[in-house]
Amino acid sequence: MNRDQLLNELSAFLRIPSVSTLPAHNQDCRAAAEWVAQELRRLGCHDVQFLGSETHPVVWGAGPEVAGAPTLLIYGHYDVQPPDPLAEWTTPPFEPTVRDGRLYARGAADDKGQVFCLLKAIAASPRPPVNFRFLIEGEEEYGSKVLFDLVAREPQRVQADAILVADMSYVAPGWPAVYTTLRGLAYAEITVRTSKTEELARLLTRIKGEDGKINIPGLYGPVRRPSKTELAAWKRLPFKEKDFLNKRVQGKGLVGLKKYSVLERLWALPTFEIHGILGGFTGEGAKTVIPAEATAKVSMRLVPNQKLKTVERQLEAAVKRFAPKYVSASVRFLHGADPAQIKLNDPSFKLLDQAFKQVLGRGTVPARAGGSIPVVPALASGGAPVILTGIGLPDDRLHAPNEKLELKQLWDGIEVFRTFYELLGESGRV
Ligand code: BES
Ligand code: MN
Ligand code: MN
Repeated sequence: MNRDQLLNELSAFLRIPSVSTLPAHNQDCRAAAEWVAQELRRLGCHDVQFLGSETHPVVWGAGPEVAGAPTLLIYGHYDVQPPDPLAEWTTPPFEPTVRDGRLYARGAADDKGQVFCLLKAIAASPRPPVNFRFLIEGEEEYGSKVLFDLVAREPQRVQADAILVADMSYVAPGWPAVYTTLRGLAYAEITVRTSKTEELARLLTRIKGEDGKINIPGLYGPVRRPSKTELAAWKRLPFKEKDFLNKRVQGKGLVGLKKYSVLERLWALPTFEIHGILGGFTGEGAKTVIPAEATAKVSMRLVPNQKLKTVERQLEAAVKRFAPKYVSASVRFLHGADPAQIKLNDPSFKLLDQAFKQVLGRGTVPARAGGSIPVVPALASGGAPVILTGIGLPDDRLHAPNEKLELKQLWDGIEVFRTFYELLGESGRV
């Protein structure tokens, strides 16, 4: 298929503002699901269904069947994060625009562009002998509840010889990656009621001190340091802390536990973040009220061996313990996910490595991810190896203004996955 046509098709997908967290966009999420379903039918899937939700359905697809061939389940998400602040975008988030070989739009890299890449790689080949299955969801960006429930109810949906997830990036241009861990997430609101609300600020600083250490009792207990071999391998990655600060973060200094490398802080240590604080008088002008209540939206990233349920209990206990007696403090959990840990010993990882090598001249490096994909532990629960990879670049600005996907990454990606499907088909059942 020619590139102009591919670009037009991807642009049509990106133009749909499928922001899953905002109810005003429910119709748009539905339209994005329809777009995916239509693509799956064009790929020859005989069984295409909407599962689990009226508003943000999981799109399921299967077929055509190839007797005796390996089964590959493809996971992705058609929902996107809200585009604000709109004023920061050079061109509007839902009007995809190419500048300097980069396609700018919300969802270009996370994850519509990558779903598009996986699907077009099937259309690009003489059809490989692979039994394709698809689970493309519309709630990844706020916790994947619909897909969690679906997998619990119908575990046979994740039966496969391998599961392919392309929702991540290379570690650097020219350096494709396969990920061994994802961090988990616990998202909560902490509310304090008293007659003096600076108590909320004090409570938050008791939970995380200036040195970056989180003072929640028991939190670091199960956290293991990466092995010497793994830490040594990270030193060989094309990652410079200075470049990370100046080019990626564009700030004046890096925070966190100074004893550990930045990669270790990002990939192998838990966090406590404050996303927003509500309370009191914030309108124009001045008012000398002392508000009775204030709320902070916070989240914690979890690393392998930590359990969401335990961390939720620990956070709640810490809030109760750090709040003075004359304050009533409460915690409400909004969503969460366990961390994921993936062993790279299945033969399918070699095939992906080989596909990248053939197309780019460099295979996959093992890396860890700082982000989360809540449903990955559930996808892995059926025993299939989950291949976590992606065609993005570290500076794609996911969730931020001016998100982009480099077109070279897309064209290479289509070639890479086309090759991977062929190798998988040739290998027979892996
Ligand atoms: N694709 C990202 C996750 C990601 C990005 C993993 C980069 C590794 C590297 C995904 O869409 C995402 O944004 N996940 C959210 C979690 C969700 C529950 C809000 C995240 O990590 O903040
Ligand atoms: Mn994503
Ligand atoms: Mn995302």
